[in-house]
Amino acid sequence: MATETASTLNLDSIRSQFPALSQTVQRQPAVFLDGPGGTQVPRRVIAAIAGYLRRNNANTNGAYRTSRATDRMIETARAAMADFLGCDADEIVFGPNMTSLTFAMSRAIGRELAAGDEIVVTTLDHDANISPWRALEERGASIRMVDIREEDCTLDRNDLEQKITDRTKLVAFGWASNAVGTINPVREIVERAHAHGALAFVDAVHYAPHGPIDVRALDCDFLVCSTYKFFGPHLGVLYGKRRHLERFQPYKVRANTNAVPNRWEWGTLNHELIAGIPACVDYWADLGLQPGSSFSSRREALLAAHAAVERHERGLMAELIPRLLGIPGLTLYGIRDPQRFDQRCPTVALRIEGHSPLELATRLGKRGIFTWDGNYYALNLTERLGIEKAGGFLRIGPVHYNTAEEMERLLAALENIVRV
Ligand SMILES: Cc1ncc(COP(=O)(O)O)c(C=O)c1O
Repeated sequence: MATETASTLNLDSIRSQFPALSQTVQRQPAVFLDGPGGTQVPRRVIAAIAGYLRRNNANTNGAYRTSRATDRMIETARAAMADFLGCDADEIVFGPNMTSLTFAMSRAIGRELAAGDEIVVTTLDHDANISPWRALEERGASIRMVDIREEDCTLDRNDLEQKITDRTKLVAFGWASNAVGTINPVREIVERAHAHGALAFVDAVHYAPHGPIDVRALDCDFLVCSTYKFFGPHLGVLYGKRRHLERFQPYKVRANTNAVPNRWEWGTLNHELIAGIPACVDYWADLGLQPGSSFSSRREALLAAHAAVERHERGLMAELIPRLLGIPGLTLYGIRDPQRFDQRCPTVALRIEGHSPLELATRLGKRGIFTWDGNYYALNLTERLGIEKAGGFLRIGPVHYNTAEEMERLLAALENIVRV
């Protein structure tokens, strides 16, 4: 496909770093289009996790070598995530996944809410950024749900403006939809929340593999992401402004100190997976390298990497979406206009008349093409669109390691399924 030439990524070199990508199904190379559910990991991440278990496996704060190495490793991982998000290392909290971290924060924030306080959430969001806030209805908080514009699955700006008021204490919203790929106007939403004295809690889980994050520039109060969505281990990461992490009161054990971020990290963390994080961030930084390029910091290299990834993914989407729209009986949910592709990720949700999403995913799976069907926990969205009971959508989720040839194989397979 012509657009591949616009990409500056060296796909052969990139793909050779991911052992999982060389698998075959029925002697055909497997096509991993399940990135939004979790991406594959490069060899160096696998090596870092295994290496930690081999050499340094210990608990923290002990007076001996492996324990001290573990302490240092966790600090290195914190610094790596701080580079990835653009904040200080002590503003990074590790947890098992985004959902657990969001519940932890909702419990703490909920301690300060009074009856009549409002929390704004959105129909576009994954349930992990809705249910933890809904749980606060027990404490008398009211949840206000921002609607979407059905025609392109973007947030309804008028509704957003009306729902955020001086009663709003927190606005919880996603940077990008894990179902239909819409990228929200995050900066604008943060500003609106702050103008009404509310906190802004951003779910960047879906956005993180697709675009750069700068929490300082965004000025959000909290941001959550999951490293397993951007080529790292199965872990969640929370950024919080230091003053919030210091002021809100977590439920914690006495042995946790009151220092940030320790007061938010209870029990023993998953050390071996945290050991994979610096390798994951370094993988990203190397993606930013071009012949002759030099960077004064890892953060600068990360930003260059994101620019290259965005270019490549735009190319994939520019070829994929118009071709999908030509398949008879296919409905594509979300932004379809190529002029607006800067407002979406390459994640595509569709339905094809006469074929359930499960049937499509199964038939593609048999051909070695891995996609998802259902709601992917974007349950409010599938309900709002009236497709929840009909099996949700088929989701095609390319990331930067996917190639134009893989898009061709997917399109040919779908065209064939529809024809037969
Ligand atoms: C947009 C979005 N938010 C939140 C989550 C939940 O993340 P975790 O599995 O880390 O709890 C997901 C997982 O798919 C997601 O896609």
